[in-house]
Amino acid sequence: MGASYEVRGKVAVITLDNPPVNGLGYDTRREYSAGIDRALADPAIAAIVITGAGKAFSGGADIKEFGSPKAIAEPNLLSLIRQTENATKPVVAAIHSVCMGGGLELALGAHYRVAAPGTNVALPEVKLGLIPGAGGTQRLPRVLGVETALNMIVSGEPVKSELLYTVPGQKLFDQIAEGDVVAAACALAEAKAAEHAASGKPLPRVRDMAATHPSPDAYFQFARNMVKGMAKNFPAPAKCVDAVEAAVKRKFDDGMVFEREVFLALMLTPECKALRHAFFAERAASKIPDVPDNTPVRKIEKLAVIGAGTMGGGITMNFLNAGIPVTMLEMKQEALDRGVATIRKNYEAQVKKGKLKQDKYEQRMSLLTTTLSYADIAQADMVIEAVFEEMGVKEKVFKTLDEVMKPGAILASNTSTLDVDKIAAFTKRPQDVIGTHFFSPANVMKLLEVVRGKATAKDVLATVMQLGKKIKKTAVVSGVCDGFIGNRMIEQYSRQAGFLLEEGCTPAQVDRAIERFGFAMGPFRMGDLAGNDIGWAIRKRRYTEKPDMRYSKTADLLCEMGRYGQKTGAGWYDYQAGKRDAIPSPVVVKMIEDHRAALGIKPRKISDDEIVHRLVYSLVNEGAKIVEEGIASKASDIDMVYLTGYGFPLWRGGPMCYADTQGLFNVVQAMKKFAANPLDDAGFWTPAPLLAKLAAEGKTFTP
Ligand code: NAI
Repeated sequence: MGASYEVRGKVAVITLDNPPVNGLGYDTRREYSAGIDRALADPAIAAIVITGAGKAFSGGADIKEFGSPKAIAEPNLLSLIRQTENATKPVVAAIHSVCMGGGLELALGAHYRVAAPGTNVALPEVKLGLIPGAGGTQRLPRVLGVETALNMIVSGEPVKSELLYTVPGQKLFDQIAEGDVVAAACALAEAKAAEHAASGKPLPRVRDMAATHPSPDAYFQFARNMVKGMAKNFPAPAKCVDAVEAAVKRKFDDGMVFEREVFLALMLTPECKALRHAFFAERAASKIPDVPDNTPVRKIEKLAVIGAGTMGGGITMNFLNAGIPVTMLEMKQEALDRGVATIRKNYEAQVKKGKLKQDKYEQRMSLLTTTLSYADIAQADMVIEAVFEEMGVKEKVFKTLDEVMKPGAILASNTSTLDVDKIAAFTKRPQDVIGTHFFSPANVMKLLEVVRGKATAKDVLATVMQLGKKIKKTAVVSGVCDGFIGNRMIEQYSRQAGFLLEEGCTPAQVDRAIERFGFAMGPFRMGDLAGNDIGWAIRKRRYTEKPDMRYSKTADLLCEMGRYGQKTGAGWYDYQAGKRDAIPSPVVVKMIEDHRAALGIKPRKISDDEIVHRLVYSLVNEGAKIVEEGIASKASDIDMVYLTGYGFPLWRGGPMCYADTQGLFNVVQAMKKFAANPLDDAGFWTPAPLLAKLAAEGKTFTP
């Protein structure tokens, strides 16, 4: 389907029809254009109404066509808008539900606009690193005023139609229509047709209106300063200001040329590429190659969480927020009381900040029950285990679950390091067992690694992925391996950070370099936040499991000094009581220097560039292995894990996208150099076969 044509009295109604949001794909554009021609050619038709079928007027460009020749094939959006604007019969847009991007630009080509209340109106292009490219920056200021229009264009956020209708002097909507918006538009269309026939006046076109501001220079200077502060790593927001300024200062057609030039230039920037990559990667993450979209899912209406500690409490909150009742189970009443108190404390903090209404808070708490007895959770549709990270404890829990849970219940483990296949083998229903690896704090962090065991049934996987969406997480599937996707990669990154200390860096220097690159937090500040003892425990296990894997001893020496991080008031940095500021510690610097001296290493000056590339390319090389082994089904999944769970800078698109931007040939060259450093781990820097192959073929990890 593309667009349908229907006659209502003297009015032709053209309905965009391209589910789910009437994206302006090639077929839709072609049929819309043909509809306009047909209506203009038919003497029985006096006016035209354009609208959208189903749940939207139009969401804008058809994302399925992104980057394909179809996206710009004629009639393209600019041509449609011109055709609409130049129509000799009145065109009225009947707008409802969603009117965004190209959809709004098309509506701005109409002569009149009627909107249903509650319509979400937006020009969201800035979120993909772009500015609107079909006249949005030139027409919106003409109908909404410069300031309101610029706010919408810079933020990309939707605003409700009825709110926009209250903007003084607005000409965006001629009417807000309760009830049948198409009928209201048809009535307006007939009336306008009669009015213009009688008066002979030309039809109003947005392009002929003026975009004015009483003190444009001062205002645009102010807008530029604001945007610079807010969006320092993204070029598009500042370009939005330039484009709207062009609407005020240039003739309409010149403004359109300027908008197009800026749009095309932005399209080529790495930031735009990264944002578009993240947009598609997020959608791609929910697609699993051998689990089709129509895989049946199990009903999840009641949940149980075992363990009311740090993770159990956070996990529970996600489901309460989504309206799903949860029963928390613990071994002792005190543990339950502590868990519930923490949940209350978190919600109360939100209420205090005005982020949560009191009644919503109570409603959420009313969905929570607690128990010490497995009999009370037997009928739950899904159980998430978040008990101590010890195989023996997990074994007991899963054996009990196998005995008590109703058939078909999903049994999930929040383990961060243990083998999900072994956990599944404790039950007689391994097909129902899966890993749900939440990140701390679990009620805040977006990432959910869904760990697919050898035996996990497809419908279990599909159900958990859908549930992930319901609780507003970015769910990414990982196969079973040590650390799954995210932590397996971070181990290599941490190892590099340790080697850098041995070779001459201080923790502050390493953190500063990678934070300048854009990471939310460098590895040492991160260690202090998470607790250095966690890594210590993992390394102790590694020393026996993988004796060939070399680590810097500095982190162990730090832990031997009792410096576990913020929780002990000292880690890689010093901390003042009650504060989180990381203060470089002379004691730690001395410890590193002594260690270096003991190893006979002469420190050298290491550039920020080397620090960043060793850290990031260690992620890339391990990531390539993860894709190759099928632990992740595609490279973009790895980027989603790093963007949503590890503070990787969004404008760089994730480690794999970043490597593509640098050129895989160059990445391999850099690795060869790192391998030649006798203090590093030459074996690790052998490029993963997938990376070597793609680099040799001049290809990339991501599309
Ligand atoms: P925690 O120590 O804060 O909480 C564990 C809770 O489980 C305690 O309240 C304890 O009383 C309870 N518990 C222990 N054995 C039990 C049993 N047999 N039956 C019922 N309750 C029992 O630990 P945390 O940090 O919440 O970790 C839980 C799980 O989540 C672990 O597997 C951990 O590896 C994983 N994880 C932890 C993350 C973190 O950042 N803390 C991140 C991701 C996963």
